[in-house]
Amino acid sequence: MSGRQRSMSGTIPSMESSHQQLKDNTIIIVLGASGDLAKKKTYPALFGLYRMGFLPKGVKIVGYARTKMDSAEYHKRITSYIKNVEDEEAKTKLEEFKELSTYISGGYEDDASFDNLNKHLVDIEGGFQGNERNRLFYLALPPSVFIPVARNLKVHCYSKAGINRIIVEKPFGKDLESCRELLSSLKQHWSEDETFRIDHYLGKEMVKNLLVLRFANVAMGAAWDKNSISNVQITFKEPFGTEGRGGYFDEFGIIRDILQNHLLQTLSILTMERPVSFAAEDIRDEKVKVLRAIPPIEREDTLLGQYVAANGKPGYLDDDTVPHNSVCPTYAATTLWIHNPRWEGVPFILKAGKALNEAKVEIRIQFKDVTQGIFKDISRNELVLRIQPAEAMYLKLNTKTPGLYTRAIPTEMDLTYKRRFTDIHIPEAYESLILDALKGDHSNFVRDDELDVAWKIFTPILHWIDGKSGPAPKPVQYPYASRGPKELEAFIAKYGYKRSTEGYAWPLTNMASL
Ligand code: NDP
Ligand code: BG6
Repeated sequence: MSGRQRSMSGTIPSMESSHQQLKDNTIIIVLGASGDLAKKKTYPALFGLYRMGFLPKGVKIVGYARTKMDSAEYHKRITSYIKNVEDEEAKTKLEEFKELSTYISGGYEDDASFDNLNKHLVDIEGGFQGNERNRLFYLALPPSVFIPVARNLKVHCYSKAGINRIIVEKPFGKDLESCRELLSSLKQHWSEDETFRIDHYLGKEMVKNLLVLRFANVAMGAAWDKNSISNVQITFKEPFGTEGRGGYFDEFGIIRDILQNHLLQTLSILTMERPVSFAAEDIRDEKVKVLRAIPPIEREDTLLGQYVAANGKPGYLDDDTVPHNSVCPTYAATTLWIHNPRWEGVPFILKAGKALNEAKVEIRIQFKDVTQGIFKDISRNELVLRIQPAEAMYLKLNTKTPGLYTRAIPTEMDLTYKRRFTDIHIPEAYESLILDALKGDHSNFVRDDELDVAWKIFTPILHWIDGKSGPAPKPVQYPYASRGPKELEAFIAKYGYKRSTEGYAWPLTNMASL
C-alpha cells in the first residue's frame, strides 16, 4: 500500500484540532437528497456536525436529485428530517443550516444536468475568499446509478482548484464479480485516495472502541485467542420487517444487507492483529490479512430463515413489493473459521435478522470452561459488547455468594456508557464518518482489497441461495416478533456455545433506565 495517503486517527477530535484538518471553501453535495438515507441519516448527521461546530468554516451544502422542488419545499423537508430541535440555540442553528443549504434538480445520466449542477457550485464558490475550491460528493443513491453519477461528477463537476472526494454507500456489488466490475468502473474516474466507501458500522462508538479495548489493555490482549475463547457471536436484531423496502431487500437479502458488510467489518477489527500504528493503511492492512485467512462459508455452517405473519404483523411474502414465491432470507446465521495461529478452531457465528423480538446489536465472546475439580457446572465467563442500543460492555464473572458459606454465582462487571460517561455526547455513526471524510481520514472506510476478500468469503453461499449452483435452499419460517428460527438454539450449541447456569440474566433494568 506504499504511496497511499497515511492519515492518523484514534484521538478524540477537539473542535480546534478538527478544524485544522478541515478545508475551508468546501461544498458538500448530497446526491439523492430526496431519498430515505438522506432523510434518516445524511441530513441529520450534517446538521449534528454543524451544530457542534465540526463542519468547515463557511461550508455550503447542495442537495441534488431528480425530484423537482423549490427552495421553500427543500427547506421544509430539511426541517422535517431533523429531530430534537427544542431549545433556542438549536432553532437558531437550524435556521443558519437551512440558509447555507440549496437544492438543484437534475437527472443522473445526462451531461446537461451535471453542467447545471456545476454552474450552481461555481456560483456559490464565487462568494468564497482565496483560490481554493473543495468539493465532497455524497452518493446517497441506489447502486444502479453509482457508475453514471461517478462519471458525470468527474467529467462535469470536478474542482480543478482543490480537493475532490466521493463517498459511496453500500451495497458495493452483489458478488465478487459485480464488485470487481464496480470497483474498476469507479477507478476509471476516482482514485482510491479520493474514494470513501461507507460501512456505517465502522462509525459506531463501540466498534471504534474495539481497537482501544483490545490493544490498550494487557488483560484483554492476553485472553484474546483460541486458548481462552470458546466461541464468538456477533448478532444483529431488528424489530421491524422490510416494510417499504421490500423491492430493494428482495434483490439483496439479509446476507448482502448486513452480514457481508456490517458484521464482517466488525469481525475483522475484533480479530485482526495489532496494527503498527493508527494510520489508515496500517489498520486496513491488518483487516485484510485476517479476512484472507477465512475460507468461503460452507452450506452446513448456515441457517436461513424468513419471517411469517404473527402477532398482528404481516409476513415477508405479504409485502406487495416482494414476489409471492420469494425464498429470500430475512434471517441468516453463518459460522466462519479463521485459519491462523491465534484463532484456529474458534467458531465465529454471525447472526442477523429482520422482524425479530427486539432491536439489539452485540458481540458476545464466550470463554472456555475452567478446569474441572473444585468447581462443577460453573458458568463460563462472557464478555458482551453491546453496540446498540445503549452502549455497554459487561464481563460475566463467577463470584462467591456473599455470606458465611462458599458458593459461586454468576454476576457481572458492568460498564454502561450512559452511567460512566455522563457528560459525553456519543456521536451518530454518520456524524463520525462524514467528519472523517472531510478530514481525509480513511481509517473507518472500506478499502478496495477488503471488499474483494469479503466477497470471496460470501460469494459461493450467495450463489447457492440465488439458485445459481442448483436449487435454491428454502429458508425455515419464523414468526414476526419472535427470537428467530426455532432451529437457532441447536445451531449455536453445535459450535460449543453453552448457556449460563440457570438464573443468570443481564439485568434488564440496565437497559430500561437508559
Ligand atoms: P432511495 O430509494 O430512497 O433512493 C435515493 C434517491 O435516489 C431517491 O430519492 C430518488 O431520488 C433516487 N432514486 C431512487 N430510485 C432510483 C432509480 N431506480 N434510478 C435513479 N434514481 C433513483 O434509497 P436510500 O436513500 O434508501 O439509499 C441510498 C443508498 O444508501 C443505497 O445504496 C442504500 O443501500 C444505502 N443505505 C441506505 C440506508 C437507509 O437507511 N435508507 C442505510 C444504509 C445504506 P429522485 O427520484 O428524486 O432522483
Ligand atoms: C443498513 C441496512 O445498512 O443498516 C438496513 O440496509 C438496516 O436494512 C440498517 O436497517 C441498520 O442500521 P442501524 O445503524 O440502524 O443498525
